[in-house]
Amino acid sequence: MTERIQAPRGTFDVLGDDALARDRLVEIARGILEPAGYARIETPTFESTALFARGVGESTDVVQKEMYTFEGGDGESFTLRPEGTAPVCRAYIEHGMHKLPQPVKLWYLSSYFRRERPQKGRFRQFWQLGIEAIGSEDPAVDAEAILLLDEILEALGARDLRLRLSSLGTAASREAYRTELAAHLRANQDRLSQEVRDRIDLNPLRAFDADHPGTREVMAGAPLLLDRLTGEDREHFAEVCRLLDVAGVRHEVDPTLVRGLDYYTRTVFEFTSDALGAQSGVGGGGRYDRLAAQLGGGDIPGMGWAAGVERLLLAGTAPALAEPPVDLYVAGGAGPVEFTLATEARRAGLRAQLDLAGRSLKGALKQANRLNARYVAWMEDGGVQLRDMESGDQRLVPRDEVVRNVLRGPGL
Ligand code: HAM
Repeated sequence: MTERIQAPRGTFDVLGDDALARDRLVEIARGILEPAGYARIETPTFESTALFARGVGESTDVVQKEMYTFEGGDGESFTLRPEGTAPVCRAYIEHGMHKLPQPVKLWYLSSYFRRERPQKGRFRQFWQLGIEAIGSEDPAVDAEAILLLDEILEALGARDLRLRLSSLGTAASREAYRTELAAHLRANQDRLSQEVRDRIDLNPLRAFDADHPGTREVMAGAPLLLDRLTGEDREHFAEVCRLLDVAGVRHEVDPTLVRGLDYYTRTVFEFTSDALGAQSGVGGGGRYDRLAAQLGGGDIPGMGWAAGVERLLLAGTAPALAEPPVDLYVAGGAGPVEFTLATEARRAGLRAQLDLAGRSLKGALKQANRLNARYVAWMEDGGVQLRDMESGDQRLVPRDEVVRNVLRGPGL
């Protein structure tokens, strides 16, 4: 027998109720983001590899080992997008969006690709809902962005949520801090895990993320970046926290919060849900005031977040959208008369389906029941039999009165 081909590990099909649940999520997100001035953006599925190498950062796991990179045929290297911030920032620069009123506020819902070890809530192709507000460094942008994600989570009925927040300061204060932290790590080298030891120079901050007991002990005594911020950064962060308080968004300041991407400056945050198990990160983001400059676009600040769609759905409790009932099911084959009747009904705004499986009348009525159809029609000599599925009433009506009858419903 010919071997069956399956979807690659870490990918999945979206079917039935899952598709409905996603529709509901998009409806909720759109209803919250668009009134706040966010417009939809869609960028290409693949980009130049340099965009992520420069934007996300050479020292990150994403760039070092998780990208799907390929040669595009003319010597150029391309990468399936592992995240959305660098592409949106590229689009902002490429389309001269700095000429628009600032900040430019964009939202997206797209699929992303990371070569990760698949497990519950972690995939190789996954979807993110995200926003980017580019062109303002006002702390109100940060607080508003966080509030919007909080509102989406609330509308989805997400359970057991925690919002952690910190500030990474500017590149300059972080550089000095990195040197100080690396010295602390080096002084305690023998208690660290091999992985952390190997990355002391490359990315010492990631040591805060380690599970290794010895490393955790060393990190408990490590200096904190939050204590090394400049006065301006400190004020910026205090204002973000104050605005979140004013809006009633509960949050914890966590100076050990690290994000897996290198472009962050100042505010960083993450929502986690204990309902999710090991992959508890529902969504996160922060400010990236140097990213546009790194991409050759000049000094343009930005702020945003992304949330994993699969994790939002796992954490949420809001019921999926119910499939709306079918108004008219046309039985008795799919000949020109039936085909025209179904078409006419749809053009009149009805949800109308044609039996496309050549069912007997009995089979068609059964299928109509499954679809929750309000009416079933089939051709007979002298007109069309129209049956009201709820009352069971049935009547022979002239062919050109079927749609009017269904529109008028209920009853016959
Ligand atoms: P991130 O933290 O890498 O940030 O991803 C955001 C969210 O995407 C995570 O919290 C998680 O819910 C989901 N996610 C990430 N990887 C996977 C995976 N392999 N499988 C399933 N879900 C996943 C970013 O991507 C930044 N671009 C966020 C951002 C926007 N920062 C500023 N603006």
